[in-house]
Amino acid sequence: MITVVANLKGGSGKSTVVFNLGLWLQNCGQPVAAYDLDPQQTLSDVAEVRREEGYAPPLQVYQGKGNFAEQLSIHPGQVLVDVGAANMDAMKQALSMADRIIIPVPPSQPDVWATQRFLNIVQEATVDKPVPKMLAFVNRADTHHAVRESDETDEALEAIPGIERLPYRLHQRTIYRRSLSEGQSIFELSRRSKAVEEFRLFAEFLYPEVLVNKKRELKAEEGQ
Ligand SMILES: Nc1ncnc2c1ncn2[C@@H]1O[C@H](COP(=O)(O)OP(=O)(O)OP(=O)(O)O)[C@@H](O)[C@H]1O
Ligand SMILES: [Mg+2]
Repeated sequence: MITVVANLKGGSGKSTVVFNLGLWLQNCGQPVAAYDLDPQQTLSDVAEVRREEGYAPPLQVYQGKGNFAEQLSIHPGQVLVDVGAANMDAMKQALSMADRIIIPVPPSQPDVWATQRFLNIVQEATVDKPVPKMLAFVNRADTHHAVRESDETDEALEAIPGIERLPYRLHQRTIYRRSLSEGQSIFELSRRSKAVEEFRLFAEFLYPEVLVNKKRELKAEEGQ
């Protein structure tokens, strides 16, 4: 399955989500090919840090040069694409191949507006085919309940036609920043924490079939 993690605004958490989802999937036994289509190359850099530090397994990151769209469909297992507005041609190529699009949205009105505009780009990129499923969620949600922005952003996302709002949020937590700077997933940095728990629920919701396979394997191991 080709999952594109994208949106128009920078800093919303695309690379963080791709890096951690990629490592979570690998940990569940899934082969993963990650594509870094951003000229900033954050995902490539963090995968390089991981390799240099010797954390296993490495995350295989491809760059996707030129007309790379067809390449996305040759990988067995899961394909994750990290792309932002800095490379619109690459973004459109990726969107045209996407089975689904995951859209991280920080809790602010400008981010909601940018998400609405992003839908136009998805429509342009997928004129000849059905529009892929679009799943938006609030990333960097405030951990204080009194702050209303995340609720308001959820409500605004729900009101955008064509978008499904994920029933999970990722909150603003330092462990996500550490994950990118240290080249380890949040699961490797902490066995138990609120971040690990919220990300596990988020990942299991996105990949229910992976969870079913994993449970089946664990049962088979127990039976041996
Ligand atoms: N839930 C979170 N809590 C705390 N920090 C976060 C969270 N999500 C992302 N960050 C941090 O915010 C910064 C931007 O995140 P990230 O690089 O993943 O966003 P991006 O959408 O890929 O940005 P860009 O558009 O620049 O590629 C990073 O330092 C990252 O560690
Ligand atoms: Mg990025």
